[in-house]
Amino acid sequence: MSSDQASEFSLVDPAISSEPWGFYKLLQEEDSVYQMPETGAFVITRYDDLRQVLRDPETFSSDVRAATIGQFADLQQSILKEGGGWEHVQTLQRTDPPVHSRYRKLLDRVFTIKRVRALLPHIEDVVNELIDDFIDQGECEFNNDFAMQMPGIIVAEQLGLDRDNVATFKKWGDAMLGSGRSPIATEEEVRANAEIELEAQLFLAEVFEERRAHPTDDLMSAMVHAHGDDEEPLSMHELQNLMHQLITGGFETTQSAINHGLWALIRFPELQERLRSDEKLMKPFVDEVLRWESPVQFLARRATHDVELGGTTIPKDSMVLVGYGPANRDESKFECPHQFNVERGNAGAHLAFGSGAHFCVGALLAKQELTSSFNAIVQRMDDIELAQPLPDPVHSFTLFFLPMHDFHVKFKKR
Ligand code: HEM
Repeated sequence: MSSDQASEFSLVDPAISSEPWGFYKLLQEEDSVYQMPETGAFVITRYDDLRQVLRDPETFSSDVRAATIGQFADLQQSILKEGGGWEHVQTLQRTDPPVHSRYRKLLDRVFTIKRVRALLPHIEDVVNELIDDFIDQGECEFNNDFAMQMPGIIVAEQLGLDRDNVATFKKWGDAMLGSGRSPIATEEEVRANAEIELEAQLFLAEVFEERRAHPTDDLMSAMVHAHGDDEEPLSMHELQNLMHQLITGGFETTQSAINHGLWALIRFPELQERLRSDEKLMKPFVDEVLRWESPVQFLARRATHDVELGGTTIPKDSMVLVGYGPANRDESKFECPHQFNVERGNAGAHLAFGSGAHFCVGALLAKQELTSSFNAIVQRMDDIELAQPLPDPVHSFTLFFLPMHDFHVKFKKR
């Protein structure tokens, strides 16, 4: 049986987690709901199973407290509390309907199409200013010089930080995402990440209080004032938790998609000219980037009762890892799923932003950031190629994401 073959690989092996596609295929063929020996979590790999899980919050709850896989979750919380910060409470992404609906309604008022449209000229300015900084050199370290800066500047500005502080913001985001490494995180790492998160909380609390007294048109202000006249305002605990989700949800993800999009342009260089000359190709290109190397490979749910899925019984209170990454490579949904194909027609059916009640609140903003970035890149740069081999493995290890680093590229200025 398959498990013999599957047992030869591990999702916590940095080499497999960086290049997991062959392992996903094996699992889909033979063990599509796979129990990770390292964590006990059940991994969902098929497209239809994923949709079923994401659309059944009564069986697969987003409140994963009872199924945590981190060893030091209590330590993290006590560092936040004792330092004058705010312990994590369950909001938005960690809640199920109907509690989720209250948070989501408030956030949907903040992340409107109107707000994204209003931001568009600014997004284009940021993209072009970043390119201005390296275009004459004919080369750059794309991850630091562009992919990290672009979403970082947009979200940081919305949070009341100025753009010179993007590095601080990145440090906060990485520390908050530290829990993504929790199956293997050491006590020292958890402690260091919690101290950094505390620093972020204390800063954000001051901005919230400032916006409460003096509203502006940024996102922090919108969140403090998002409630209607007959609704409770969000508490500081809730605001801090929502910020945690916006920072972790909006930064690494978009950075990763921008990196993988450029890497696709390098691996399939004919696309550089095709995107330049046919603007209608940009939308399918962005969708295919998100499908092919989905920035969020997995997130967690908890089984609320024993349930059978894909021939496997998942016991009550098990951690369930929903595999957006594997589902987007499922051949029962996408023909030749391992080929990057801007003509496939159904790339937009990808689950990179999730599905159901928790569908990504920032999807419109992210797609705009990607579209503006790649429009400017193909218009201003030509013959883009690697200036150095990528590291091996290409991605830093986290179970949940695909972060790229040391991405040196060269190009001709157009
Ligand atoms: C390419 C970029 C992005 C990707 C791939 C992505 C992916 C996802 C996914 C898969 C989910 C579903 C979570 C679940 O099922 O539990 C999600 C939810 C969420 N995303 Fe994104 N995201 C991106 C950009 C953003 C941005 C720019 C923001 C905000 C600035 C953001 C904020 C959120 C929040 C707050 C949620 C939780 C929504 C809820 O639970 O109702 N994301 N995202």
